[in-house]
Amino acid sequence: MSVLTAAPPDGEVNPLVEGLERLPVPSTTMVIFGATGDLARRKLLPALYNLAHEGALPERFHLIGVSRREKPHEDYRAECEQAIRRFSRRSPDKNVLEGLLEQVKYVPGVFDDDSVYERLARELDEFERAAGEPLARMFYLSTAPTFFPVIIEALGRQGLAGRAEEDGAPQDGQRVRVIIEKPFGTSLAEAMDLNRRVLSVFEEPQVFRIDHYLGKETVQNMMAFRFANGMFEPLWNRNYIDNIQITAAEDIGIEGRAGYYDRAGALRDLIQNHMLQLLCHVAMEPPARFSAEEVRNEKVKVLRSIRTPTPEEVGEIAVRAQYAAGHAGGQDVPGYLEEEGVAADSHTETFAALRLEVDNWRWAGVPFYLRAGKRLARKVTEIAITLKPVPHLAFSREGSLGVRPNQLVLTVQPNEGVSLQLGAKIPGTRMVIRPVNMEFLYGTSFLSQSPEAYERLIIDAMRGDATLFTRNDEVEAQWQICDPVLKSWEATPAPHPLPQYEAGSQGPTEAREMMREGQGWRTI
Ligand code: BG6
Repeated sequence: MSVLTAAPPDGEVNPLVEGLERLPVPSTTMVIFGATGDLARRKLLPALYNLAHEGALPERFHLIGVSRREKPHEDYRAECEQAIRRFSRRSPDKNVLEGLLEQVKYVPGVFDDDSVYERLARELDEFERAAGEPLARMFYLSTAPTFFPVIIEALGRQGLAGRAEEDGAPQDGQRVRVIIEKPFGTSLAEAMDLNRRVLSVFEEPQVFRIDHYLGKETVQNMMAFRFANGMFEPLWNRNYIDNIQITAAEDIGIEGRAGYYDRAGALRDLIQNHMLQLLCHVAMEPPARFSAEEVRNEKVKVLRSIRTPTPEEVGEIAVRAQYAAGHAGGQDVPGYLEEEGVAADSHTETFAALRLEVDNWRWAGVPFYLRAGKRLARKVTEIAITLKPVPHLAFSREGSLGVRPNQLVLTVQPNEGVSLQLGAKIPGTRMVIRPVNMEFLYGTSFLSQSPEAYERLIIDAMRGDATLFTRNDEVEAQWQICDPVLKSWEATPAPHPLPQYEAGSQGPTEAREMMREGQGWRTI
């Protein structure tokens, strides 16, 4: 029986999910570096509250926040409460919230000062003395990326990095894991250097590189969709598919993040990580088992099959642009160059599009179009798979005018779901065809609210399941694709300003030029 196509008989465990569900969540102390930052307040603390609410946290769970400013534990607890009340997807239950806050402590200090780690070690030991057993330790690096190597190396120097785990079991009774936020480097060279420094202190199985898109339900559903249904996989190749478009459009601007964004740009911010991960999910071969190593091996194979663009090709396969003033998200908004903190002569792209080729047997010749941008018409993340047109139409010319190639759209957000565009006869006495949609919507098929990406990722990291995290070779393979484009953009004198698109629009007209004949971007 193929595990990919048949449901297991009652009572039998499906090997695809076995392992993941079996891993227990050990008693843990989580340490957040950058504990008062935006990510901690908006995402991490609310995620921890929701996990506590569901009873998903281990019975013994402690949290230590580390940040620059001196303050007593109580003040930090009050800040945590405020953040949870403001950003949690559930309105907090008093008892659950109090129970969680009781377990919170705070350690002040700058990250390059060794005394911070000595104090941290004392707090960790104290929790463990009270527990009467060693607890798993999970360090979450939610700081500016310049501090990642600083913190990692300090943890190593202070003997806080633990030892390697084998088959999920720690060698010295102490599980230690580290979660590293994005961005993981700003170039291939930087990512390689960071990997080297991280892996000189931790072993790869201890390292969890976050790409929060992997925690999204709809991204995980892509594997269920492809590998739990017999219907689509036979069509999933160059013989039937004409092109694949992946869009990550946002209507928001840079939201006061000029300091980060003006140095990053759309290619580094979204394409190098989230969008290449979406591409991997569409293009990968079925893994033999749903395990961290097997899934990530398949993703790395896809990334390595992507043709690296030469400097001459970049102008043809890549487009960059900046938003100009316009109307977006229901208000008049300034152009990128007028945003506070953005250099007036900035060449940072707020829109980027790429045409990539996956050079393997399954995908040879099928273009993968990726586009990401701020201040576009609306927020939508989707993958649109357009099939080849039928070889012959027997109907009259007029009746066939509405015939379109079938299109399968996997919507990651909002209106999460899957829709299939088919041709159907319009009721009446004539044979006239027009496109109709067959839709599956998460919101109507499942009544429960989906967890936030960070909830799933935090609990997986505690369990030691790295399936939804990026491996060292994977992150480098992602940079390998983006690096030549970035280098070529840096080396080519860019027009000033960059090509512009009106805020709230479909993006720059230049993006159309990279498409092959007969292919066009979907309306955002
Ligand atoms: C982040 C980027 O990784 O993803 C942001 O830094 C972007 O610029 C965000 O807005 C989008 O995430 P989501 O979950 O809202 O699609």
